[in-house]
Amino acid sequence: PEVLLLNGPNLGILGSREPEIYGTDTLADIERAVGEEVAGRGWRVVARQHDCEGEMIRTIQDSYETVGAIVNPGALMIAGWSLRDALANYPRPWLEVHLSNVWARESFRHDSVLAPLAAGVIVGLGALGYRLAARALVATVP
Ligand code: DQA
Repeated sequence: PEVLLLNGPNLGILGSREPEIYGTDTLADIERAVGEEVAGRGWRVVARQHDCEGEMIRTIQDSYETVGAIVNPGALMIAGWSLRDALANYPRPWLEVHLSNVWARESFRHDSVLAPLAAGVIVGLGALGYRLAARALVATVP
């Protein structure tokens, strides 16, 4: 069984991207951490990062066989309506993760068009948030 770890625009440069906001863990560190969390259930992580909304949509359409997903949509949270429609048709539970506390930041980051579809949302806990999301899937997916 596989878990989809899907990161959106500008998350491929984690580690050096505004580290005071997003921390110093790289995306590879995060992918490894999620892998550790799900290994106990015999799950494998399929990690994808796309800077384009269309590529994220294609990945979701190709991932209906996964057991669940962890999604950091980056700024597509704000107005990624096509991404929302893709997630609406994703047949498994998924969690939305944001490294930073978006509500402590600019007001344009305060709404997510995706969050109403998520099984849960983890915000502001940095890279730990991905581990916690992985644990949530491990604990809740039948
Ligand atoms: C982010 C928060 C978004 O507002 C921002 O556009 C990002 C990263 C986060 O993980 O904190 O790209 O999703």
